[in-house]
Amino acid sequence: MIEVKNLSKMYGGFRALDRVSFQVRRGEVVGFLGPNGAGKSTTMRILTCFLSASDGVARVHGIDVFDNPLEVRRKLGYLPQRAPLYGEMRVWDYLRFCADMRGLSESTFKSRMKRVVEVCGLAKVLGKDIRTLSHGYRQRVGLGQALVHEPPILILDEPTSDLDPNEKAEVIRYIQEIGKNHTVLLSTHNLNEVEAACARAIIVSKGRVVADGPLDEIRAKSGVGRYVITVEEKRARDGFKAPSAQEAHDALRAIKGVTSVQELPTDDRAHTFQLNAPHGVDLRADLFQLILQKGWMLLEMRRESQTLEDVFKALTRGDERADRGLAALVGESFSPDEDDEDEDEDEDEAEDEKPVAKAPAKSPPKEEPKKAPAKAAEEDEDDEEDDEDEDEDDEEDDEEDDEEEEEEKPAAKKGAKK
Ligand SMILES: Nc1ncnc2c1ncn2[C@@H]1O[C@H](COP(=O)(O)OP(=O)(O)OP(=O)(O)O)[C@@H](O)[C@H]1O
Ligand SMILES: [Mg+2]
Repeated sequence: MIEVKNLSKMYGGFRALDRVSFQVRRGEVVGFLGPNGAGKSTTMRILTCFLSASDGVARVHGIDVFDNPLEVRRKLGYLPQRAPLYGEMRVWDYLRFCADMRGLSESTFKSRMKRVVEVCGLAKVLGKDIRTLSHGYRQRVGLGQALVHEPPILILDEPTSDLDPNEKAEVIRYIQEIGKNHTVLLSTHNLNEVEAACARAIIVSKGRVVADGPLDEIRAKSGVGRYVITVEEKRARDGFKAPSAQEAHDALRAIKGVTSVQELPTDDRAHTFQLNAPHGVDLRADLFQLILQKGWMLLEMRRESQTLEDVFKALTRGDERADRGLAALVGESFSPDEDDEDEDEDEDEAEDEKPVAKAPAKSPPKEEPKKAPAKAAEEDEDDEEDDEDEDEDDEEDDEEDDEEEEEEKPAAKKGAKK
């Protein structure tokens, strides 16, 4: 359903994606993970035809995003990291407008809305102007627009960020449910959500895929097996002596394959230790033998599965280090005394973010999407900030919108302009 092959993206001279390849099959719910700046949103924006790639191939539902962006968008529901909302519209009207753009009839829209309202928890705000909504509620409305046409493929860029814990759980439950017969690519920084909703994950770091596979396989990547063992401190089997912490520690450390032993805090009746061994080495039988031979009273023994978080940290640690410390501040990429070169960068970027329809040597889309209402059409997915200011000064906002439009226009509109 989603196929990405050697996808690269340059922003000016900066390589945000470096030959990224992966596939998502029908009915899979795949977690798309990576530290800040790893390239998740960039990949998603290419897949959803908001950005053109510098190189490589991306197909959605078998359709090339360069060749036929409108057809690709028909198959997709997309929630960008910052939902594209029109602050002056009421929630109901906005969702109807989205449904209208998707070609839904009024009656289909109304019947779909029952589900959308239930899933996204929108019942109380349907009549409110979007600009008056809290951040979390705006996120819900954004999710609503991604779902209203019941697309076979959903691309959700941090759908649960800014939601309260109850709502997060509700959205994840919904994703689990739709994952039964839809394809979902879900980016999130919450690894528990991935554990709950996804059978598979792709981890990106610095624009490259560093892990891709079922969660079990990814967990195994850290290469460490972990065991926790608890024995009685004061009692042993008849004829044996209860161990001191040091004795227990040394005996456990002497087991073949154990690479480290660490005592964990516990009450004064027991000793608890955590043991590490290389992944694939099974210590359980040796631990059983030792305890039998020493006559210790075993209270607990468990093998802990590696958490996704352990692996995530191990695979992406380099990213984080590069971001911290003075060395990064005065490194090659930035000098505090130099003039800000952002403006130039932005121009490059605007150049880069030409609509997918303008990709070289490719034909423009044959069909034009419906036009948005006059002002709404000027807004884009970064408009949230603007919405917050709208009450204060609408005119100023219009200007800001125009500037942002220069930076990134929705591909549908750009395609239509061609
Ligand atoms: N329009 C742009 N112009 C220049 N650089 C950009 C632009 N958009 C993204 N980048 C850079 O590309 C890299 C990847 O950004 P991207 O937004 O894809 O990361 P991400 O994985 O989604 O991060 P996050 O978890 O913070 O959302 C970052 O270094 C970012 O600064
Ligand atoms: Mg992002």
